[in-house]
Amino acid sequence: MSTQSGNGVRRVTVPDLREMKRRGEKIAVLTAYDYLFARLVDGAGVDVVLVGDSLGQVVLGLDSTLPVTLDDMIHHARAVRRGVERALLVVDLPFLTYQVSREDAVRNAGRVLQETYASAVKLEGGSPAMAETVRTLVEAGIPVMGHLGFTPQAVNVIGVKVQGRDGDGRERLLAEAKRLEEAGAFSIVLELMPGALAEEITASIDIPTIGIGAGVGCDGQVLVLHDMLGLNAGFQPKFLRRFAEVGELATAGVGSFVEAVKGGDYPGAEHTFE
Ligand code: KIV
Repeated sequence: MSTQSGNGVRRVTVPDLREMKRRGEKIAVLTAYDYLFARLVDGAGVDVVLVGDSLGQVVLGLDSTLPVTLDDMIHHARAVRRGVERALLVVDLPFLTYQVSREDAVRNAGRVLQETYASAVKLEGGSPAMAETVRTLVEAGIPVMGHLGFTPQAVNVIGVKVQGRDGDGRERLLAEAKRLEEAGAFSIVLELMPGALAEEITASIDIPTIGIGAGVGCDGQVLVLHDMLGLNAGFQPKFLRRFAEVGELATAGVGSFVEAVKGGDYPGAEHTFE
């Protein structure tokens, strides 16, 4: 993938993120799943656009990420790619596309890069076996973002809760972060963990950490676009700030349309061809 978009815009690269950490510049990351939102998010200046497998919940109406397929991810990532000129584009590898064997992982991650023109993939977990998968992908030329703490693909094993609150969990997460860095990951998402632990992990590695529900001490922050725009009514975990109430605006707009059509107020003469 060229470091310049078709319009001559310089794209954010994997090495840029490490440099941002070194300079102390915070990294802004948002998810996107389609062309128009991708264009909006990229145009507003985020550094990384993530096509997350949260696609399952916020776009496909599923109740977890587990049923999301590689074809689903590729379909949406191709649309997102068309809207992203500047940000680094990262795509989640969905459940069971990288856990079964390292060969599978290379083939599936390779498909993502070849078919979507994304620059990197993200995968979950930090066990020794997962670190070996990361190493294999990186050796094959596929940059990998890790994901530790609450890892949604393991929801049936760990439940939805803050991770690393006890001594063992804390030590395990610190070791996993080191292991992923050593295996060649270029960045790690830290999800749902105490702020002090995320800060400690961030200080202990040279690659940037991107927090979600992990306090202020990370090198960057990520949110699911639909959640931070207030499109996902009723979803209000402690860590989420709604930066806009787009859901309310959209509901009001659609309500006005229905009223105008039923009342004969739309279309007007100004919308009508002679
Ligand atoms: O799938 C996703 O959107 C994610 C982010 C929450 C980090 O993994």
